[in-house]
Amino acid sequence: MTGKSSFTTIEYNDGVVTMLDQRRLPHEEIYNHYNCAEEVADAITTMVIRGAPAIGVAAAYGIALAARHSTCTKPDGFRQQVESAAVLLSGTRPTAVNLFWAIDRMRNALARSAALPVQAAANALIEEARAIHAEDLELCHRIGAFGQTLIPDGATVLTHCNAGALATAGHGTALGVIRSAVAAGKRVRVIADETRPFLQGARLTAWELSRDGIEVSVAVDGAAAWLLKNRRADLVIVGTDRVAANGDVANKIGTYGVALSAHAAGVPFYVAAPWSTIDLQTANGNDIIIEERPSSEVTHVLGQRIVPEGVPVLNPAFDVTPHTLITALITDRGLVSAPFDEGLRAMAMMAQ
Ligand code: MRU
Repeated sequence: MTGKSSFTTIEYNDGVVTMLDQRRLPHEEIYNHYNCAEEVADAITTMVIRGAPAIGVAAAYGIALAARHSTCTKPDGFRQQVESAAVLLSGTRPTAVNLFWAIDRMRNALARSAALPVQAAANALIEEARAIHAEDLELCHRIGAFGQTLIPDGATVLTHCNAGALATAGHGTALGVIRSAVAAGKRVRVIADETRPFLQGARLTAWELSRDGIEVSVAVDGAAAWLLKNRRADLVIVGTDRVAANGDVANKIGTYGVALSAHAAGVPFYVAAPWSTIDLQTANGNDIIIEERPSSEVTHVLGQRIVPEGVPVLNPAFDVTPHTLITALITDRGLVSAPFDEGLRAMAMMAQ
């Protein structure tokens, strides 16, 4: 066990983006190929690829594809086509700030290449997307290095959703901390909440950890409070889609309940995030847009209807955990604990 995951979530080669189709895991390991921004936008919306950092990487490559395959030889038309791709990709998923962060980086790269011929500008955008991809992997390893110090040898870690290699460029954030602890020689067990309705825990976290030889059990979401109360887990580590300036975090629906349960049981609750997920422009969690997903995700399981015809459902995809329930944020720049607003501001200044 080396701490490196054994599969590829997303890759770019010569004008084609390849993604592991996460809708088909764990039964089938199928890699889909994408040739244009429209196809990548659809892959993000339909959750072929998901997880905040991976969504950002995919969007960057979507814009790179628009540049690479632009039909315009004149700079103005080229720029318009790239900008249309950026607008399209911005509309895919509203909660993950990494999406907007990556698109902003691509827009800045476009602005920087304004004086270049179209071909050179396209190459610059492809390079920027590759840099976003490579940096995310590097940040996950740094998160792992800081976070693994929090995991005692022999610990059981409860996690919610999938914040693993599948949700990033590789290694993962929450699962990256676990991979790094295992690579450091610690024995770690994981309890993965199944994470209704898309089952990221049961299908994806269980798949990637067991495939990499890390001991994992799956529990239904409703079991988390009871398992924590009975100290069946020593700590909780989750990922996040957006961290507000005061330390509130948006993450997969159900995370708030896990945090409340951990707080009540006196179990530490950690949130792992690369700096690209920190959104200092958003003052607190109330200002984070929560994505509503299609009702069919709730009404149907494996294509079979489980909710009576005509009964409405609620399907918020994320919730917000207030910073008061968080023991520490594990970032690629180090650990942040209360007061989170001051800690995040100081860390932002330090790195500038
Ligand atoms: O709807 P998803 O599967 O994209 O939600 C993913 C999560 O909630 C993850 O925990 C979060 O994006 C962090 S991934 C490192």
